[in-house]
Amino acid sequence: MEEKKKLNIPSSIAIIMDGNGRWAKKRGLPRNMGHREGCKTVEQIIEDCARLGVDYLTVYAFSTENWKRSEDEVSGLMQLFRYYAGRLLSRAKDNNVRVRMIGDRSRFPQDIIDAINKLEGETNDNTGMTFVMAANYGGRDEIRRAAMAFASDVKAGKQEASELTEETFSSYLDTCGVPDPDLLIRTSGELRLSNFLLWQCAYSEIVITDVLWPDFNKDVLLSCIEEFNGRKRRFGGV
Ligand code: FPP
Repeated sequence: MEEKKKLNIPSSIAIIMDGNGRWAKKRGLPRNMGHREGCKTVEQIIEDCARLGVDYLTVYAFSTENWKRSEDEVSGLMQLFRYYAGRLLSRAKDNNVRVRMIGDRSRFPQDIIDAINKLEGETNDNTGMTFVMAANYGGRDEIRRAAMAFASDVKAGKQEASELTEETFSSYLDTCGVPDPDLLIRTSGELRLSNFLLWQCAYSEIVITDVLWPDFNKDVLLSCIEEFNGRKRRFGGV
């Protein structure tokens, strides 16, 4: 592949997939049609990233704040999760992709929890890219749950509070084992983190594109990677 020779492909990419609603509005369609198109983009981008040699792709599918949307929109998104769980499973199998979910899955209806468990279980031995789906995910909520789990281990005598390191704390996060994103992409031009991977993005390079998520494609991805390649990463050093 021509672009692979020229570009340095980041190992870990995270994406805030924004703009589904605006994509639909521009066409006079209901918001859920935007989410439906957005799901098609997710499917395609998983395959593109796996082929480009990305090791970890993390996407923000549903935030802890998204429950505040209308009942109609939330139930539409649940329907999409149901439908796409099956498609994702066969795509993941075809592409040797391992699927993981981060976020608090306990709030989802039981059939969706079962589908997520199945996706993780049946792809766990795949050795290619890891696709991480953030669902009912919030960075603060993740840190809160990690702090609770750590405190409980301290109480049980398994940890020493005064010896807590960043590495140990990271191991209590949902993303345990997933390297911090090298590149964080946000679509649709907004300049916010929106509670996504707050701990993990400490040194991620952020690239914002005006493209709305349903219109995102491999060419846009490659231009984001090109922008990333132009950055000098110093991790706080000089
Ligand atoms: C942001 O667009 C998008 C979301 C809140 C949901 C994103 C979800 C998907 C693309 C579906 C993912 C599904 C699977 C199975 C991985 P917005 O609605 O905030 O857009 P707006 O800012 O233009 O209103």
